[in-house]
Amino acid sequence: MKIGIFDSGIGGLTVFRQLMKKLPNNDYVYLGDTARLPYGIKSRKTVIEYSIKNTQFLINKGCDLIVIACNTASAFADDTLRKKFNVPIFNVIDSGVSAVKDSGIRNIGIIATPSTIDSKTYSNRLKKLKNIKKIISKQCPIFVPIVEEGLKSKGYIDQIINENLNIFKRNKIDGLILCCTHYPILKGKIKKFLGPNVKIFDSSVEIAKSIKIQLGLTKKNKSIKKEVYLTDGSKYFKTALRSMFNNVNFNVKIIDIR
Ligand code: DGL
Repeated sequence: MKIGIFDSGIGGLTVFRQLMKKLPNNDYVYLGDTARLPYGIKSRKTVIEYSIKNTQFLINKGCDLIVIACNTASAFADDTLRKKFNVPIFNVIDSGVSAVKDSGIRNIGIIATPSTIDSKTYSNRLKKLKNIKKIISKQCPIFVPIVEEGLKSKGYIDQIINENLNIFKRNKIDGLILCCTHYPILKGKIKKFLGPNVKIFDSSVEIAKSIKIQLGLTKKNKSIKKEVYLTDGSKYFKTALRSMFNNVNFNVKIIDIR
């Protein structure tokens, strides 16, 4: 099976890494739409347009299953992509919400891009869960450039985390969903700030678990191929890729899909 994954940039690599752990015997094509990043402050119409182009590119590369490894694109474009393309499409939201459903968490925090929060996709879905009593949402757009530019170890990041996540200390929560695929890269710092009593839900982990369950055992390909494409050069992307995949050397190609 050839699995196609797309995101605006580095964030979807968190999903790619989890999929590789759970389903290593497949071919993968990763597309980071770095020319048009960030998605998280763009309109529904624009994100749908980008998502169609990304999916078409992956299908042209021979992918038989598409993973929308971006919460913003999952919130805005999932329906359109399912209607338009005749391959199975997975989004990162369904699996995140169902992990919360089975957890017994009552007061849940969600952090995401402005577009994902404004779409109300998470809050509407979470409201329907019996266990959920309170939902607190916070837009954290600044986390995306921190991850894209490899700034997570800078001294000022703790201050940024504090300012953005303080709301969850004032309003006691017992769970937090990382509703942007860039955020798992900051998970260590987020966990440290919120402490051990807040359970963190990571959409990259949840989607990989759910795809594995749905696909069951997949046939082993003779030789496993991994292709990585970007729509524009990105200074930090290759470093992030190497550090997330234990120094495996990927050949990253720049392509134009506009
Ligand atoms: N990683 C994406 C998400 O999950 C988008 C971040 C961005 O491009 O703003 O929403």
